[in-house]
Amino acid sequence: MKVLIVFYSTYGHIFKMAQAVAEGAKEVAGAEVHIRRIPETLAEEVLEKMGAVEAQKTFSHVPVCAVDELAEADAIIFGTPTRFGNMCGQMRQFLDATGQLWANGSLIGKVGSVFASSATQHGGQESTILTFHVTLLHQGFVIVGLPYSFQGQMRIDEVTGGSPYGATTIAGGDGSRMPSENEIEAARFQGKHVATIAAKLVR
Ligand SMILES: Cc1cc2nc3c(=O)[nH]c(=O)nc-3n(C[C@H](O)[C@H](O)[C@H](O)COP(=O)(O)O)c2cc1C
Repeated sequence: MKVLIVFYSTYGHIFKMAQAVAEGAKEVAGAEVHIRRIPETLAEEVLEKMGAVEAQKTFSHVPVCAVDELAEADAIIFGTPTRFGNMCGQMRQFLDATGQLWANGSLIGKVGSVFASSATQHGGQESTILTFHVTLLHQGFVIVGLPYSFQGQMRIDEVTGGSPYGATTIAGGDGSRMPSENEIEAARFQGKHVATIAAKLVR
């Protein structure tokens, strides 16, 4: 049973969440888990102005995802930062290259799940996941979120991401806040939950 975690990250928040999702998925017996990154589309000079160059070096070792790898997975968990309440353009461009997979029905029946990151608490992390789901439904995915059995999403004693739609983190306006332990736990839970369901479907 193959679980693919496909992420794009500018400053490393989503990468950190992706690692936690992978840890959770690996807890499921028989799960073969791979992390892949979405290719960057911004010019180097733009990335420098955004202050992203050093951060992106920390995950430059992660192999870039080839579109065909999606067809080989039983479950795919996508990670994206919020851009104006939607997925980032890099992810959109990657998904727009999956037309052949759509035409062949190659992704129908696979488990699909999304985690996200935003700068502010109400900056669109939920809308990012929900609008991402629309694309997954067109591709025939069976969508899985973050059930309330992950009780950390009920917390109000601290600022935290996470909702029934999926694990999220709040990066802060200047990006200085890295995922909290509760948000990392949510990501681990989502990875394990998706892999558990995929294992049942494969059987
Ligand atoms: C063009 C652009 C648009 C953004 N739009 C939003 C937004 O709508 N809401 C929000 O809270 N954060 C927004 N952000 C902040 C990013 O979501 C934040 O930097 C990201 O979640 C950090 O994750 P990363 O380090 O994995 O890239 C935006 C950032 C950029 C560059």
